[in-house]
Amino acid sequence: MQSLRIDLHRHAHAYYVLDAPVVSDSEYDRLFQELQQLEIHYPDLLPLSDSPTQRVGGKALAAFNSVVHSVPMLSIRTETDTSANGALNFDARVRKELGLPADAPPVTYVCELKFDGLAISLRYEGGILVCAATRGDGEVGEEVTQNIRTIGQIPLKLVSLPGGLPVPDVLEVRGEIFMRRADFDALNAENRSKITEGIKNEKVFVNPRNAAAGAVRQLDPAIAQRRKLSFFAYGMGEIELPEVKTTDAITTHFGLLMALKSWGFPVASQTIRAQGSMELIAFHTGIGALREELPFDIDGVVYKVDLLDLQKKLGFASREPRWAVAHKYPAQEQLTTVLAIDVQVGRTGKLTPVAKLAPVFVGGVTVTNVTLHNEDEARRKDVRVGDTVIVRRAGDVIPEVVGVVLDKRPTDALQFNMIKRCPVCDSVAVREAGEADWRCSGGLFCRAQRKQAILHFAQRRAVEIEGLGDKLVEQLVDSGAVKTLPDLYRLDVATLTNLDRMAVKSSQNLHKALQKSKLTTLPRFLYGLGIRHVGETTAKQLARHFGSLDAVIEASEDGLLQVSDVGLTVAQSIIQFFAEPHNLEVVRQLQACGLTWTEEKVLALPSLPLAGKTFVLTGTFSTLTRDQVKELLEAQGAKVSGSVSQKTSYLVAGDDAGSKLDKARLLGITILGEAELKIILGG
Ligand code: IVH
Repeated sequence: MQSLRIDLHRHAHAYYVLDAPVVSDSEYDRLFQELQQLEIHYPDLLPLSDSPTQRVGGKALAAFNSVVHSVPMLSIRTETDTSANGALNFDARVRKELGLPADAPPVTYVCELKFDGLAISLRYEGGILVCAATRGDGEVGEEVTQNIRTIGQIPLKLVSLPGGLPVPDVLEVRGEIFMRRADFDALNAENRSKITEGIKNEKVFVNPRNAAAGAVRQLDPAIAQRRKLSFFAYGMGEIELPEVKTTDAITTHFGLLMALKSWGFPVASQTIRAQGSMELIAFHTGIGALREELPFDIDGVVYKVDLLDLQKKLGFASREPRWAVAHKYPAQEQLTTVLAIDVQVGRTGKLTPVAKLAPVFVGGVTVTNVTLHNEDEARRKDVRVGDTVIVRRAGDVIPEVVGVVLDKRPTDALQFNMIKRCPVCDSVAVREAGEADWRCSGGLFCRAQRKQAILHFAQRRAVEIEGLGDKLVEQLVDSGAVKTLPDLYRLDVATLTNLDRMAVKSSQNLHKALQKSKLTTLPRFLYGLGIRHVGETTAKQLARHFGSLDAVIEASEDGLLQVSDVGLTVAQSIIQFFAEPHNLEVVRQLQACGLTWTEEKVLALPSLPLAGKTFVLTGTFSTLTRDQVKELLEAQGAKVSGSVSQKTSYLVAGDDAGSKLDKARLLGITILGEAELKIILGG
C-alpha cells in the first residue's frame, strides 16, 4: 500500500506539475483502484489522510469554519493603464523608491500571469495538507479544505526531489484556484441539458471565475469535485525549513517558485525572469497576443521584484506591496443595456434576432449590435428589452451576450418571442424540423434576401463589382430597377444617374465596373451565386474538380461527394440549387449578359508544392497586395489563415508587421520576408 501511494503521488506530480506523464491514464486508474481495494480491506494499516484516494471525503458541512491567516493575504496594486506605460510606471516607481540612479543596471523582475480566479492559502504541516482557506478580508478567511482536496493538482503530501530543498516543517502556499475554459464549457453544457430535462437546481454560469468561486464555497465536496478546478502557485505565506535558514536557501522570488515546484506545486510555465522595463513590456505584449490561446482566462500579468531583500526594502503601502503590480489587459466583459431586439433577414432568408445595445467599449471596440443567433439561443439566454447584460468580446471573436444581470431586470420586461412573418416582405417564416433557424419563405421575392444576394455576388471575393455597396443596392432593389442578378448588367448609365447621390461620373464608373466584372473566374462565379454551404474554399474545390460550370450543374450526389471537403449537406444543397429552374435561369441569363470565366486548368491538390502548409500574412508587401499573395500561395496548394497558431507553418511578414509577428516569434514559427516568399513561389 505504501509503495502504491508513493507511485501514485509520483505519477500525479509528473502529470500535473511537470506536464510529463510517465504512465498512461488507464495505468494510473489501475494502480488507484488497487490501492482503493487494499484500503477497504485493511483500513487500519496506514493513516488514510495522506492517501491519494482520499481527495473526496467527509460529508457536507453546515457552515465553514473561520481561519486566521498566520501571514495576512495581501492584495496587489493594479496598473489600469493597459498600454506599455503600465510597465514603465512600475519600473520607474521601483527605481525611485530604491534610490537607484539613472545609470544603475536594470532591476530583475519575475513576470507571471494574472489568473482570473480566486486566491487560496494552503497550509502544510509536516508535509501534509492540513488547511486550505479563502482570502476573506485578508486576515480571516473560510476553511474550505474538503473542497480543495478534490483538486488533483494540489498535493496532499509534499515531496522532496533528490538534491533539492527538504520538505518544510510548515509551509503556506498562496495561489489561484480557477477553471479551465474547456472544463467550464463542459460544466455549462451539462447543466444546460439538465435544465432542459427539467432537473432543477442546476445553474448556467456566466464565466469560469464565478463557477470556480462557487465551487470552492460549496458545502458539499462532491459538488465541488464535479466542477473540475485547477490551481497555480504564485507565492508563499509562512515557511519553516528543517535545519536550513530559509533566508539562505531562498533568496529570490523565482527561486521560491522553483522550490514550490520541487515540492509538487504547479507553477505556470509562462513565468519568466525579466531585466528592466523593456522586458516587462515585451512580456505584456507577448502574453497579450497569446491570451486567446491560453486554456484559461487571465485579466493581466503580474510583475514582482525578484530579490527578496529588495522586496523587504520596498515594503508595503496601505496593505499593498510596493514590489508587485498587476498590469491589466483591456476588459473583455462589460455591462450595458438592451435597447431593442430586432430580427434581421440574411441572404438565405435566415431570420436572426439581434440585440441592439447602448454602445459599450469592450475588448478594444465599441459594440452596439450583438447577434442572439436563433430562437433557441435567444430563449436560453432570455435576453429582454430593458435588461442589463454582460457583453463579452475576446480577441477577434464576435461579441456575445454572456448573461443577463437578473437583479437589474425591469419589472415590465417582456420575454422575446420569435416573429412568425418576415419583417421585410411579410412572407410566413418557417422553421423546419431539426433546424435551429427560422427562415423567410419569400426567397428572392423578399427584398432583404435579394439585396443580400446581390451584395454577396458583387463582393470583392466573388465577381467584384467595385463601388456597388449596400446603399446603392438598397436603392436599386427598392426602386425595382434590379429584381434578379442579371438585371444588374442591364442597367445603363442614364438609369444609374437617376439614383440618389449618383453623379454622371460615378454612374459611368459603376457601369465600367459592371462591364469589368463580366470577366471572372469559375470559383468566384460559383461562390457568388450564394449556394447554401458553398463558401470560397468549396467553390475553389468544385472548380478544380469539375473544371466547368456545366459539369458542376450536371454532377450527381456521388460525383459531388468525390470532391474534397464536400459532404452530404453540401452536395444536397448544390443539387437543390441547380434543380430550381429559377436559379438555372439566372445562371443562363448571366451568361447571356456576357459573363465568362477563364477555364482554369488546375492540378489536383495534393500534388501541389505547398499542399498541407498553412501560411499567415501580416504587414504590407512592397510589390504585391495581400490578396495577390494569398492567391499565389493558394494556387500552389497552401492554406492561408487569418491567425497564428501552433498549426501555422510560416508567417510571411511585410512592413509594419503587427502582433501576429510577435506571436509567431513566441510560438517559434518560421518567419519569411517578401524576398523569401518569392523564392518559395518560384520567383
Ligand atoms: S500576488 C502580495 N500573483 O490577484 C501579492 N496575485 O490582489 C499577493 N492573482 O486575488 C498576490 N494571479 O489571487 C499574485 N500571479 C499572481 C496572481 C495574483 C492572480 C490574484 C490574487 C488576488 C489578486 C491580487
